Amino acid sequence: MAGFFVTFEGIDKSGKTTQAALLAEKLRKKGRDVVFTQEPGGTELGREIRHLVLGWRPRAAVVALAEMLLFAADRAQHVAEVIRPALEAGKVVISNRFVDSTTAYQGYGRGMDLGQLRAIQEVASDGLRPDLTVLIDIDVATSRERGGASDRLEAENDLFFERIREGYLALGRTDPNRIFRVEGHLSVEVVSQHIYAEVSNRLGLDNRL
Ligand code: TMP
Repeated sequence: MAGFFVTFEGIDKSGKTTQAALLAEKLRKKGRDVVFTQEPGGTELGREIRHLVLGWRPRAAVVALAEMLLFAADRAQHVAEVIRPALEAGKVVISNRFVDSTTAYQGYGRGMDLGQLRAIQEVASDGLRPDLTVLIDIDVATSRERGGASDRLEAENDLFFERIREGYLALGRTDPNRIFRVEGHLSVEVVSQHIYAEVSNRLGLDNRL
């Protein structure tokens, strides 16, 4: 059985983690071997990087290039150690965030050059692309209502998150076959049904649970 790589994307508090976990549970019930992972922090090295890049230290501003390269280092390790071996073993890999997060946050959010960023990410991800990306779209006001900032990036202002959301929507328009946009303001159950319908269709699974 061929492996299948699904990524979840969206601004903070979009419900990605909940939905990714629900999808993993549904696919396991169908007998698929699922690896559920995340970025940053899907490996031991990655957990150290996550701490570095999302923590409140150093207090001096972290420059966008350094921030982006830390996410790239996390990704290089994650692809080599976790994602590629699992796909080669025929598993379904569900990753909470992947390259689109860098394009949206460091590209659109921080204003980094998109061409340069794409070239570096191509190297970091070893050319690996998701088979499907679920983009859970919520507006920034909803993200804010769902909770306060728990890390350095979440403490950025609303304009930063507006640019990120726009970035995700632009990515969705340029790559509609890969990126499946789902309305994140709907109930957890309904969002999960939409996602499962799309994934089961692509995997040729029975849509009934
Ligand atoms: P989360 O995994 O808890 O959603 O949070 C990770 C944070 O890191 C989130 O604010 C998005 C951010 N991030 C980037 O800015 N660029 C990236 O490439 C990745 C993977 C995450």
